[in-house]
Amino acid sequence: MNSEKERPLSHPEDPPAYYRLHVFLCTNRRPDGHPRGSCAAKGSEALRDYLKARAKELGLADVRINSAGCLDRCELGPTMVVYPEGVWYQFQTTQDVDDILEMHLVRGGRATRLLLRPTDTPETRRSGRV
Ligand code: FES
Repeated sequence: MNSEKERPLSHPEDPPAYYRLHVFLCTNRRPDGHPRGSCAAKGSEALRDYLKARAKELGLADVRINSAGCLDRCELGPTMVVYPEGVWYQFQTTQDVDDILEMHLVRGGRATRLLLRPTDTPETRRSGRV
């Protein structure tokens, strides 16, 4: 988004991370008919609940899953971002959530088909991107 992204993510004086991974899922809800839509209107609350329940079943105590307000990528929603990597995903189904859970939160890889890149728009997502 800006040159800030070029700075190193860590600093020698940083304390150890409290969580191995911290996941923020947008659960913002706007009124029906809002031009930007909202993640909650596309089902993000139920998918957040599903992810939290599955992570608990798997005993992922070092992974924190939080609801977030608007992440400002509404047209691409539902969206989530995983820190410390700052990796974004678009998810729509419980299968998508399972893929992110297994591939990223458990194995440390990426759920490639669901990744959101900084340049993604609704059009690039629909077209399978460039
Ligand atoms: S409403 Fe979810 S990113 Fe804005």
